[in-house]
Parts: sequence; structure tokens; C-alpha cells
Amino acid sequence: MRVQFFSARSYDLREFTAANARYGHELSFLEARLGAQTLALAAGHAAVCTFVNDVLDEPILRRLADGGTRLIALRCAGFNQVDLRAADELGLTVLRVPAYSPHAVAEHTVGLILTLNRQFHRAYNRVRENNFLIDGLEGFDLHGKTVGVIGSGRIGRVFVHIMRGFGCRLLVHDPQLCGVDSCIEGATFVALPELFSAADIVSLHCPLTPDSHHLIDDAALARMKPGAMLINTSRGGLLDTEAVIRALKSRHLGALGLDVYEQEGDLFYEDLSSTVVTDDLFQRLLTFPNVVITAHQAFFTREALASIAETTLANIADFEAGRATPNRVLPDLLRAVPSSQGGPGCAATSGSGDAEVPLASDKDGP
Ligand code: NAI
Repeated sequence: MRVQFFSARSYDLREFTAANARYGHELSFLEARLGAQTLALAAGHAAVCTFVNDVLDEPILRRLADGGTRLIALRCAGFNQVDLRAADELGLTVLRVPAYSPHAVAEHTVGLILTLNRQFHRAYNRVRENNFLIDGLEGFDLHGKTVGVIGSGRIGRVFVHIMRGFGCRLLVHDPQLCGVDSCIEGATFVALPELFSAADIVSLHCPLTPDSHHLIDDAALARMKPGAMLINTSRGGLLDTEAVIRALKSRHLGALGLDVYEQEGDLFYEDLSSTVVTDDLFQRLLTFPNVVITAHQAFFTREALASIAETTLANIADFEAGRATPNRVLPDLLRAVPSSQGGPGCAATSGSGDAEVPLASDKDGP
């Protein structure tokens, strides 16, 4: 099948070209993002392959469909960037890579926590300048602290498993999974308010949907413990950035680690070091010593890249052959989750501490 890639970087070209030896699709790679200016380049391609910040709103989808495109092959897990209803109405199939390496994202999350807590970002700069003072770099033991995990899917579960190794107490909130079957060893399912009020660290591992948009707003932040750390490696729109800045300025929020940002489409995956960045909220975030931001790289491991390429090409082959695939994204994935705050339906279990966390099958959709 002829596939036009957008937002393709050198590592995409390398991984997809290697994996395509087994599939034989006709792949063309473009560094440009998919948008109104570039979509003409998709003409004549039955499939486009896009990443997290490519625009797939109704006008773009309509023009893609008019140009003969039938498949949107997302080489990512998230699908919030796609107008799924429009795609469905236009007869465009949307496929994604629901899981590639939950370990990559969970481990990056832990990296942000350790960086903020032990201030590696500041220590690194001090030592390079021969400043060997440690004043102001004091952290806290993770052992014994309470970690609140919002979203207990593939990544949330791996994250729970890692943090249990540090000796943390784990509280989990997931409105879709609060029954006995969804127990996670060593974790307790709780309602959101309880999670916010008890957690020393809150980490987000749920998708961005109309329901979860600005899940962390002024009210949520006010419920959090003074000095708590907030980590978002999921999607930028889960945070109300202005509210978060207010909470940082008042010192109520103790530290913030981000791998995603609501307006990241204008910034991430570009070298803007010689230009004037006009996003004042993002620039304000960069001024805080207790904020660490990475540019949507939590997924970025060798293992994840290989897995993304393999699944994306298999998705395209399935579509071409008319085979059903569980990786299809239909509008009902946006269905609102129960508005209940997810009652504490899952009691803590005290396991050996070594057992592997049971993960959902890699082929399961959420
Ligand atoms: P998953 O689909 O396995 O699990 C998501 C879980 O969130 C599900 O159990 C679902 O019930 C739960 N959930 C849905 N709405 C919720 C809400 N309002 N509150 C609490 N829980 C809710 O997804 P997975 O693989 O664990 O990924 C989680 C998110 O991580 C993705 O949606 C994506 O946005 C983000 N991600 C970020 C990457 C990065 O590089 N920074 C890479 C891959 C994923």
C-alpha cells in the first residue's frame, strides 16, 4: 500500500524502512507536519501515517478523503488529535498502536520524579561550573511516600510496579476499573478526592478525552497536599496550565514534571533555539526551578520505536487485506467514562513485592 508519512524524523525512517522489509509497503517520508499547507502531498496515497501533533480535524480529514486516502495509520497510542466522528462519517479507517512499550513511558515518569526530587537538573549545572555546594538540593526519601496514579492501564500498572519497588504506598484511580477483577497488587483503588488529598506525588496515566480535559484544574490542585509533586506524561490537555502556574506561584504545588503540554503542537519536535517563542505560558513554566519539562519523549526508546514500526506496518497490512484488527479506533472510544469518582472497589493486596504486574494484553484496546 502507498503510505505518506508526516512528521517523520530520521529515527522513523530508520525503523520503518527496516521493518518494512517484511511488509513491502510503498513508504514516502515527509518531515513536515500534516496540516492545511501540506496535505496536498498525501494525494494519491491510500494511507497516511501520522504522529501525535499532526492535525486531523474535520476539514483536513475531508480533504484527505477527497484525495483518495482511506486509512489514517497513527504511529502512537493517543488519538485525541483525530476528529473520530468526522473520520467515521467520511469512511476513513483510523488505526493506532495501543501499546508498544509501557515500560518506556513508566520509566521516563520515574526519571522525572527522581530529577525533581533530587534536583539532578540543578546539580548537573552546578557541578559543570565547579560549584560543589549542595545547599538547596535537598530531596526526600521516596520510601514510605504516597503516590497517586490516575489511570491504571498498561502504563499506570507498570508505573505502580516500579514505585512499589521504592517502597511507596500506591493509590490508584480509574473510573472504568474499580472492580475486584482490576486489583493491582500492592495498590488501593480510591476515589479522586481521596487520591488528591493523600498523595505526595500525583502521576497522570489516562487518555485525554472530553471527560478528562483539564482534569487538573484549580479545584483539583486545591485538594492536593501542600508541596505535592505533579507529573504528566500522558497528554497536555489533562492540565489547566494557567491553574498549574497559579499553584506553583502560590507554592502550593511543590514540583511539576511534564513530558506533554497542551499547546505542544507549536513547539515540540522542532528546533526553535534561534527563534522567539511566543507562548507565554510555556515560557513562564520554564522559569520555575521546580519544573522539569521534556518534549514528549517518554516513548522514545529503541524497543518502543521498533514495536511502533512493526505494529503500524502490520495495521496497514491488515487494512489492505480487509482483516479486522483490535487496533481500530472508533468514535465510541470517546464515550464518557462513568462520572462516579471511581469508588474504592479494590482493596490493597499485600504481595511478595516481586510479582510481575498483570498487564492487559498488548492487543487490548482501552
Ligand atoms: P490504556 O488505555 O492502557 O490505559 C488508560 C487507562 O486510563 C484505562 O484503564 C482507562 O480506564 C483509564 N481512564 C480513562 N479515563 C480516565 C479518567 N478520567 N480518570 C482516570 N482514569 C481514566 O493506556 P496506556 O497505554 O496506559 O496510556 C495512557 C496514556 O499515556 C495514553 O492515553 C497517552 O495519552 C499517554 N502516552 C504518552 C506517551 C508519551 O510519550 N508521553 C506515549 C504513550 C502513551
